Amino acid sequence: MQPAQVAAPPDTIPFSRRKRVDNIALSEKEDLHNQFGETEEIGGNHYRAYVGPPNYYDLIGATQFYLLTLFGMRETSSLLDIGCGSLRGGRFAIMYLRPGRYYGIDPEEWAIRDGLKSHFNEELVQRRKPNFVIDGDFAFTKFGRKFDLMMAHSIFTHAPQWQIAKCMAEAKKVMVPQTVFLATFFETLDGSDYQGDAWLYPDIVRYRRETIAQIVHEAGLECHHVEWPHPFNQKWIAVTLPGAGLDVARALSGQIYSYEATLERRRTDTTWPGSATN
Ligand SMILES: C[S@@+](CC[C@H](N)C(=O)[O-])C[C@H]1O[C@@H](n2cnc3c(N)ncnc32)[C@H](O)[C@@H]1O
Repeated sequence: MQPAQVAAPPDTIPFSRRKRVDNIALSEKEDLHNQFGETEEIGGNHYRAYVGPPNYYDLIGATQFYLLTLFGMRETSSLLDIGCGSLRGGRFAIMYLRPGRYYGIDPEEWAIRDGLKSHFNEELVQRRKPNFVIDGDFAFTKFGRKFDLMMAHSIFTHAPQWQIAKCMAEAKKVMVPQTVFLATFFETLDGSDYQGDAWLYPDIVRYRRETIAQIVHEAGLECHHVEWPHPFNQKWIAVTLPGAGLDVARALSGQIYSYEATLERRRTDTTWPGSATN
């Protein structure tokens, strides 16, 4: 079967759709919080089914959030959620982070608005102050800041190599030595890499681990493969600036939650856990 290409390649997204939205309006659709989309077609226009299997919307969001905290996300951190969609994972971070410290970017404004309406209400959105840019060209500098953590979950699983390279190049501009950028991809089954130029959705694309690492390296970044479970066997990577010294095994061991980490922090920090990017 020929893969369906339902989303335009980002370079054809009209400029008018690229914008920073400071006060994004919640969707006007009613009762979204009671609609779980179980019978909807994946990739369709239901906010849950749009981003993947609706009956795994909860777990896939939870595993993103869990991994972010293992890699050091505290309430003072800033998070860039690349291709945030309907906030499947973002909703947990929006509640956890201090107000204004969540940043989401996605070309589909309706998905963000429906997600906000389903997960929150006007008052909570005003209180938590998430920031959004509507964009499909990885214009992360539009937020005018750098980030402690970055997440691209289920993005490279649909993206051609040139888009992954573009994402890495733009990511580098908003990283500091402490930044950890977590992302997923589908590993190839037959040793080949997707060679097309188009974003495929809801179809998927696959790459060799070496290919993903090479794209990251060519952007001047460091790539760590991360063994962390995923309900659909997506593979995780953690990307940093060169020489950042990320210890993946230590992070995955739950070091952040340990008493030792607390004692270490008390010894070295005099203030509440800070943000490297503020
Ligand atoms: C499978 S969904 C994943 C959504 C979210 N990351 C999650 O895990 O719930 C893919 C998302 O990528 C978005 N997308 C498509 N092209 C994009 C691009 N060029 N840059 C950023 N996001 C893009 C889609 O609108 C959609 O929300």
